[in-house]
Amino acid sequence: MLELKEVAKEFTNNKKEDVVGLADINLKVEEGDFISIVGPSGSGKSTLLFIIGALMNPTEGQVLMRDEDMYDSTPSYRSKLRLREIGFVFQTFNLIPYLSALDNVAVPAMLTTTFRNEAVQRAEDLLNRFGLGARLNHKFAELSVGERQRVALCRSVINNPGLILADEPTGNLDPKMTHEVMALFQELNSNGHTIIVVTHEEDVAAYAKKVLHLQDGKFTNGK
Ligand SMILES: Nc1ncnc2c1ncn2[C@@H]1O[C@H](COP(=O)(O)OP(=O)(O)O)[C@@H](O)[C@H]1O
Ligand SMILES: [Mg+2]
Repeated sequence: MLELKEVAKEFTNNKKEDVVGLADINLKVEEGDFISIVGPSGSGKSTLLFIIGALMNPTEGQVLMRDEDMYDSTPSYRSKLRLREIGFVFQTFNLIPYLSALDNVAVPAMLTTTFRNEAVQRAEDLLNRFGLGARLNHKFAELSVGERQRVALCRSVINNPGLILADEPTGNLDPKMTHEVMALFQELNSNGHTIIVVTHEEDVAAYAKKVLHLQDGKFTNGK
């Protein structure tokens, strides 16, 4: 479904020095995979996920989705990918603070259907499934961290993307909520979604079927 070939990313820091974000990354993702990528802070996890998620150009290499390099295509092709085929759970959620949980989740669906009611209905069904039925009309700012995490998760899956990417999805959660969120990813995976989670915690990574280690922008255990 997805392949990274010799991907590298260099940044320039505020002293105008080159900083290695990623180097020499090769990765094959098959449909139905559940992969976690573990590494310490600064190892390149977010950079890697942004590149996979059609959000950031690599400096070198190719990112093939269905054998087509997404960064050789147009920006509008990449935004279509992001809207319909890739669900992204951001570390900082990126939800809209003054909208309700329901509207936050419905936004991506409104962009793909002309029927507002259908979008809202789908958002409501999802939130109910994730135990947020009593929070539909709460503003994002009125929700607990665990609830925000689940709202972000609902938003990422509302358009039924084949690929779900999550950046430190349990970073702010207690152990019980961490288990709940990771079990949700397992459920989504068993329903056919391909999932990549990045985390700095080994026990979170262990929920995946396959664990890769990242250090200084490189995989340390092969592919
Ligand atoms: N926009 C940027 N400008 C300069 N350096 C960056 C930028 N984004 C990331 N980096 C650097 O790239 C490396 C990897 O960062 P990141 O992918 O955020 O790591 P992680 O998510 O594992 O903490 C770090 O050294 C970081 O400082
Ligand atoms: Mg990060």
